[in-house]
Amino acid sequence: MIKDLKAREILDSRGNPTVEVSLSTDKGEFVSSVPSGASTGMHEAKELRDNDDRYMGKGVLRAVQNINEKIKPLIVGKEVDPSIIDKIMIEADGTKDKSGLGANSILGVSMSVFRAAANEKNMPLFDFLSSFSRLEKNIPVPCFNIVNGGAHSGGGVSFQEFMIVPSEESFKENLRSAVEFTHELEESIAESYGRESTNIGDEGGFVPKAESEKEILKLLEKEGKKKSIIIDVAATEFFDEGKYSLGKERKDRKEMIAFYKEIVSDFSIIGIEDPLEENDFSGWKELREEIGELMIIGDDLLATNVERMELARKFDSCNAMILKINQIGSVSEAIEAAKKAKEFGWSIIVSHRSGETNDDFIADFAVGVGANYIKSGAPKRGERIAKYNRLLKIEEDTLKINQ
Ligand code: PGA
Ligand code: ZN
Repeated sequence: MIKDLKAREILDSRGNPTVEVSLSTDKGEFVSSVPSGASTGMHEAKELRDNDDRYMGKGVLRAVQNINEKIKPLIVGKEVDPSIIDKIMIEADGTKDKSGLGANSILGVSMSVFRAAANEKNMPLFDFLSSFSRLEKNIPVPCFNIVNGGAHSGGGVSFQEFMIVPSEESFKENLRSAVEFTHELEESIAESYGRESTNIGDEGGFVPKAESEKEILKLLEKEGKKKSIIIDVAATEFFDEGKYSLGKERKDRKEMIAFYKEIVSDFSIIGIEDPLEENDFSGWKELREEIGELMIIGDDLLATNVERMELARKFDSCNAMILKINQIGSVSEAIEAAKKAKEFGWSIIVSHRSGETNDDFIADFAVGVGANYIKSGAPKRGERIAKYNRLLKIEEDTLKINQ
């Protein structure tokens, strides 16, 4: 039974306020905290911010208050049943985008309820999530965002993320290989661009003073040898009045597609995330037809929202999805999105946000819903590494990899 619920304002990895939730049952206290994006899609569930004079308007005291005063009386005394508790909160919120109570309030409680429910069953969280979702467990392949651009860097490169995807036999070896690669790349960036270019961005990747996307791809190729690359273009961020501002150039949809065809043939790119803006379902389809069987990954396009996924499926806009629990705002709805992706035959990439905490929930979540991949930044910042370290333990516990 749920005995108590208490929320507080803490800080995320960017030093911005976020919500932490403590939920108590007869068996213990379950603490969770909520991440926050910078390049958020327009179709995401809405986090509640105070917009007052504290923390430049970014405080979350209204979200905290909603948990302590509105959600608490609704769930204290109830059984620890995540489906029911999520449903109660969604109904109490009463909006489509969770702007009533705030996605940051609902998600924090939802995560803690799942943790408490796993504990009730004496199961590790990943095992519970797998039995709850009836999805087969999988240890995901990690994608490391080793060079940060776009909204995460303040540098001159428009693409937001350049990820390397190792292909060793286990998670542990994938991590080792990525860390070795990161250190090698650091030296090579220092040689080419100077030591200051090895400073890191929001997700732990380097921010070299490169002039173009191709320059970074060449750098990764030189160091990466046999590593595959996924890029997150986050195209909506530099789309305006029908054109994409790529460096000094302004490209239309056709020119963007031509650019992708070129880099895909020149570099070992296995996936492109958000290649076009978030509402251009037919443009995405055109790209898919032109580019062949590469992973075309919907993030802002889908916003972990089953209705958006249905639309994308109708247009055949993508064949892979980014799964972010805070985009939809509750764990049970994120699980529904994972099930839908499996039904569609799409690959699933569970993802952190650029503003994170040390909460490692998504590591268990990725394994529990059988995700193919996880992206949690570069192995260079504590809040990113927390997820990778948790996966080391899960792999040890399960000793299975079905990738
Ligand atoms: P965000 O970036 O968390 O700032 O939205 C991550 C992504 O776009 O994948
Ligand atoms: Zn993205």
